[in-house]
Amino acid sequence: MASIEGTLRQGIPAHLLKGQKALVTGANSGIGLATAVAMGRAGADVVVNYVVGKEEAEKVVEQIRAFGVRAEAYQADVSDEDQVVAMTNRMVEEFGTIDILVANAGMQRDASFTEMTLAQWQKVLDVNLTGQFLCAREATKEFLRRGVVPEVSRAAGKIICMSSVHQLIPWAGHVNYAASKGGVQMMMETLAQELAPKKIRVNAIAPGAIKTPINRSAWETPEAQNDLLRLIPYGRVGEPDDIAAAAVGLASDLMDYVVGATLYVDGGMTLFPGFATGG
Ligand code: BGC
Repeated sequence: MASIEGTLRQGIPAHLLKGQKALVTGANSGIGLATAVAMGRAGADVVVNYVVGKEEAEKVVEQIRAFGVRAEAYQADVSDEDQVVAMTNRMVEEFGTIDILVANAGMQRDASFTEMTLAQWQKVLDVNLTGQFLCAREATKEFLRRGVVPEVSRAAGKIICMSSVHQLIPWAGHVNYAASKGGVQMMMETLAQELAPKKIRVNAIAPGAIKTPINRSAWETPEAQNDLLRLIPYGRVGEPDDIAAAAVGLASDLMDYVVGATLYVDGGMTLFPGFATGG
C-alpha cells in the first residue's frame, strides 16, 4: 500500500499555528511524532516530550527545526507529578507560554482479564489517564495566567486529548487500556464544560488502527493486515499523519467553535462494520 506519509503534511498551511507554542507528549514515536512535526509545519514552536528514547526525540526536533520554528526535546514521565510540573514550568520559561497541549503519551500492557496484574492495570491508568490529567492541569494554569492574546489565537488555550476508538468499542484482553480511554472521554468532556467559559477549548481525537509501534502485530504481516481491514470500512490502515492533520485542525482557530468534541479518525471503524452485511 502506498504511504501517504508527507503528503498530508505538505497540505498543511504553513501559517495556521504561527506564533503558537505546542507541547506534544510522547512525541518521539508514532502519532505523537507525526503530530509534533505537523504542528511545526503549521508554524508552531514545539516541545517534543519523551520519556525514553532521547535520540529519536532529538531527530524529531531536527525535523521540526527545518521548518524554521523553534523545537526542543524535554524528558518527563507524564505520570509523575513533579516531572510534569517541571516540564511545563520549563516550557513557560524557555518558550514564553503554552498555547496548545496534545496529551498524547499512551501505552498498552495487554493481558487476558484473570492474567492481568495490578501493575499492568495501574501502569496503563497512570500513563494514559493520570498523565493526561496532570499535563492538562498544568497547561491550564498557564492558559489562565496568560488569557487570550487575540493576535495569536481566539482561545486562551487548546487541549487535545488522544483517546481511541476504544473509548467506545469494548476490547477483550485490553481492559486496562479500554478503561483508561473511557476515562479520557469523560475527563475531556468534564474539562471542556468547566474550562469553556475561560476560553479554553478541550477536545479529543479517537484514532482507529494507525500504523505505529503500539499495534505492529496487527498490521505487519499480510494476514494480520487482512484481518484488520475487515474492521475498517474505508479499506486502509491509518497513518500517523491522518491523526496529525486532525490535531493541527482542531488546535487552529478554524475549529474555534469546536468544544468538547471527540473526532473519530478511524476509517469508519466505529460504524459497526459487521452490520454492513449482518443484523
Ligand atoms: C490501539 C491499537 C489498535 C486500535 C484499533 C488503538 O487505540 O492502541 O492497538 O490497533 O486502537 O483497535
